[in-house]
Parts: sequence; C-alpha cells; structure tokens
Amino acid sequence: MSERDLARLLAGLSPAMEDGEFAFCSVPHGSSSDFDRLQPRGTFGEAEGLTLVLPAERARAAALPFDGVFRLITLGVQSSLAAVGLTAAVAGALAGEGISANVVAAFHHDHVFVPAADANRALDILKALSAGVDDDAPARYRERFGEMPDRSLVDNGVLRQLMTRRSHRRFRPEPIDPSLLYSLFAAAFSAPSKSDLQQASVVRVTDRDRLRRIAALDDKVRWIADAPAFMVWCGDNRRIRRLAAHRDHPFANDHLDAFMNAAVDAGIAMQSFIVAAESVGLGCCPVSEVRDHIDALDRELSLPDHVFPVAGLCVGWPAEAGHVSMRLPLSVTVHENAYDDGELVERVTAYDRRREAARPTPAHAQRDVARFGVSDDYGWSEHRTRQYARPMRTDFGAYVRRKKFDLS
Ligand SMILES: Cc1cc2nc3c(=O)[nH]c(=O)nc-3n(C[C@H](O)[C@H](O)[C@H](O)COP(=O)(O)O)c2cc1C
Repeated sequence: MSERDLARLLAGLSPAMEDGEFAFCSVPHGSSSDFDRLQPRGTFGEAEGLTLVLPAERARAAALPFDGVFRLITLGVQSSLAAVGLTAAVAGALAGEGISANVVAAFHHDHVFVPAADANRALDILKALSAGVDDDAPARYRERFGEMPDRSLVDNGVLRQLMTRRSHRRFRPEPIDPSLLYSLFAAAFSAPSKSDLQQASVVRVTDRDRLRRIAALDDKVRWIADAPAFMVWCGDNRRIRRLAAHRDHPFANDHLDAFMNAAVDAGIAMQSFIVAAESVGLGCCPVSEVRDHIDALDRELSLPDHVFPVAGLCVGWPAEAGHVSMRLPLSVTVHENAYDDGELVERVTAYDRRREAARPTPAHAQRDVARFGVSDDYGWSEHRTRQYARPMRTDFGAYVRRKKFDLS
C-alpha cells in the first residue's frame, strides 16, 4: 500500500540515481505518438506545446533544442499521490543547498530531476534527509513531554538537538576559543529582528573582577563567577533613537511597543546564540536573577538610557550531562485557531504527576515550606505557584522608566 505518513516516507526515501542525462524539450502540438521514436521518458501537454523529457543524446540526435541537462533521482519509497509534505521536504532540502528540483509525481514513485552538475550532491542530501529520520524520536519526545507522541515525528539533527537540549550551570574550566565565540555571535545576530530595527546588544563581561562583583550581588548568582564566558543580552532602543536624531527625524514611537520590541529582539538573539553554542557541545544557562539588583548591574555595565538587560548568559563546556527538563504537553501550549484552556487544570495535574514520577521532588526541596508546609501533592504547578506567591523584581518597571522608556 502507498505510504502517506511523512516521517515514514522520509525514513524509507531510498533515493537512487539513474544513469544518463535528460533534457526538457518543447515541440509544437501534435500527437505525442509523433515522438514515439524518441521514446520520451515523460510528456506533458501545455498551452504552448508538448514537453518531452528524454535522454539528452536523443534530443541532440533529433536536433531538438533544450536548456541544461538533468540527472534523474527516483525515490524508491511508494508514496501515495495524496501524501502531504514529501515534495516540499525533498525540494526544501535541495533548495537549502541551492539546488533546483523538478519533482514529477508518478503513480508509484516520485522522480526528481536535478541539474547534472549538482546531481551527486543532491543524492547525498536526499540520503542524509532520509538517514535523519530515526526511531529514537518518539523516545526523545517522551523524555521531553513524559508521554508518547500522538503521531509520528519528523526528525533531523537540528530537531534532535532542540528536543534534547538542557541548561547547564556547571562548567569545565577550559576557555572558549575566541574565534568560536565570534562565530556564535555572528549566528546570534543573524536572528530575525522586528522591522529589521536590530534592537539587540550584548555586553560580554571579560573582566573577571567585574564578573566577580556581579556574581557577588546575590547568593543565587554566585555560581556565575565560574562560567568561562558570561554576557548580558540587552534590549537596545538607543541606537535607532540616536540615528533618528542624526537623520533629523522625530522618534514618534515612544510607547510600550518600543520597549517590548527591543526585549523580544534580545531574547531571540540570545536563544539563537544558545542554539549555536549547543550545536558545538557548549552548555548555556540564561540568568535573569542578575536583574535582582538592577541598579548595581546597570552601573557595572554602564548601560545608557534606552538600553536594558534582558538576561545574563553563562556559557562553557559542560561539567556534567544535566537532564532534559519535562515540558507541558503540546495540548496545553499549542492552540488551534482560537485560544482554549478549557482542560488546563486536568492536563497540568497529569503533567505534574508525570514529571514527579520521572524526577520526584524530595520534601526538603519543596519551596517555601515555612509558609506553605510540606505538600504530598507536590509538582511543577505547586512549585511555580509558590514561587510567584512572593513578589519578585517589583522595581524593574521603575528602572525601565528611569531608562527613559515611556511604557504607556
Ligand atoms: C529568560 C530566562 C531567564 C532565566 N534565568 C535563570 C536564572 O536566573 N537562574 C537559573 O538558574 N536559570 C535561569 N534560567 C534557566 C531556566 O531555569 C531553565 O531554562 C528552565 O528551568 C528549564 O530548564 P532547561 O533549560 O534545562 O530546559 C532562565 C531561562 C530563561 C529563558
């Protein structure tokens, strides 16, 4: 039976290249039987004429003109004509490497014509696309969400890296090569940016005395002094304001969105840095607790008006494996068409139990026992709601206003 499931289609792709080169020729309308002698591999009628796909040497022998020669890669998987996503996945993988693909879906198989010069590379890419799908994806999903997936999963190296990522707070002492850090910053600042305004900045703290002073601001962040690299990602609405003045234009967007866009840009750039760093085996941990003493941090970094810290980031070679932290199920976080949290409590209660079953919280690790007592129904929701039962960083709004943001 023909396969419709995309993950299984990709896993069983079995791309194979045929010998010989093919040409696409167009001839005036007539009966395709006029061209039977050329034994075309395929024909397709268009308003302008009849397309013949035929071995290039036969096209040359018949003096039919054509542009470029192609090799044919046939996908051995038996794909249903109703399968969704296979053509996009194949063409997308090739397009990502700058290779054009002309995909012909025939009854049993898909056939991909690629420029002859790129054919060997294209075959390797399609083999890699297929090899990227493995049977461990459901196990990784289960570790992340505590339950088996509802459907089959598409998998590749990036997805695998993201599904297994974890924060690291303990590092080996080895430094990070400067050219590696430079490459990671280049990747980070390739992140999308609201209106291309590019409102993220990062302050690297390379002066160890300064880092020790920041680490000493609060017991919670003492550990950051041992991070081989530490930086603070900042929302930066100052640059565009300075440039507005330089270009002699008014800055007419002094409201909450100016703050939010800069904060989002900084967050996305930081996450791009993290993904890039984790791709080479580095470990990272964002640290917003450095904002608990916001004025002292601000002074250490000499932040001017309209620049504010979003989070610190520790980076280094991990000293321990760490663990995958279980996430809320997608039924809680992914909504279809309209927001719906109708079954929030039931779903989170089940998540709490799954999470506790995988990594129980010992009684001594329960939060704020003096106030709330020891609970025999402890879990993520109890932990996090206890956390937010105390005010935190209530001075941040005033700080942001002091940095001259109008939050109206
Ligand atoms: C913006 C932000 C700020 C964070 N601040 C801290 C922090 O101050 N201290 C800390 O130990 N971890 C911090 N973290 C890490 C989270 O605690 C961590 O991502 C979360 O517990 C999930 O664990 P995982 O990253 O291993 O999946 C922060 C994460 C983010 C995204």
